[in-house]
Amino acid sequence: MSFRIGVLVSGEGSNLQALIDSVHGQDGIEIVCVGSNNPDARGLVRAETAGIATGVFPAGGYGSREERDAALADWLAERRVDLVVLAGFMEVLGPVFVRRFAGRIVNVHPSLLPAFPGVHAIDEALAHGVRLMGVTVHFVDERVDSGPIITQEAFDPVPYSRDIAAVEKRVHEIEHRLLPHVVRLIAAGRVRIDPDQPRHVIVEEDDGDH
Ligand code: GAR
Repeated sequence: MSFRIGVLVSGEGSNLQALIDSVHGQDGIEIVCVGSNNPDARGLVRAETAGIATGVFPAGGYGSREERDAALADWLAERRVDLVVLAGFMEVLGPVFVRRFAGRIVNVHPSLLPAFPGVHAIDEALAHGVRLMGVTVHFVDERVDSGPIITQEAFDPVPYSRDIAAVEKRVHEIEHRLLPHVVRLIAAGRVRIDPDQPRHVIVEEDDGDH
C-alpha cells in the first residue's frame, strides 16, 4: 500500500525538491501530483523533471475562487491523495476545499506561528525586530495559518544586519529537513490530533511522544 501525496506550490519549489529528494519513492510514499496556481512556478519544472504529474489552477482562470478550489480538489481526489502538502502555496484555500480534505492538509510556514501569519512572514518578523525566528509545520484549518501545530523549530540570534537573504537561507535549511520529517511521520501513522484537545497534536517521535 502506498501513501499518496499531492503537493501544491506557487514558486521556486525548493521544499518540493526536498520532498522529491528525501521522501518520494521511499517507504511506500509517492508524490503523485504537483499543482500550482502559477503557470510559471519553477516547482512545476522540478516535478516534471522527476516524472510527476502536474496541473495548473490559476485563480483568474475560473469564474470564482470557489470554482478554482473545486477543480483543484477534484483533481487531487481523482489522484486519490492521502495527504495534501502546501509547500510555498501562496493562496488561501477556501473552507469547502479544507473540509473536503479535513485533517489531511499540512502547510510549512516561515515563522513561529501564531506570530506573523500570511505571505510576508519573514519581512514582517524582521521589521518587528524579533530576536528569535523559526519554522512551523501545521495542519490547515479554515483560517489563515491557524491550524494545529505539528512541529516548530526556532533559530537565534537573528543577525543584526537584518539580511533577509541570510535569514531566508536559514529558514530554508530548517524547512527542508522539518517538512520531509513530518511527512514521513504522517505516512507512518505517527501524527494524530488529540481527541480531547483538538488544538493539540500528538507526534510519536523515535524518542517518545511530543
Ligand atoms: C517557504 O519558505 C515557505 O515557508 C513559504 O514560502 C517559501 C516557499 O519556498 N510559505 C509561506 O510563506 C506560506 N505563507 P519554496 O517555493 O522554495 O519551497
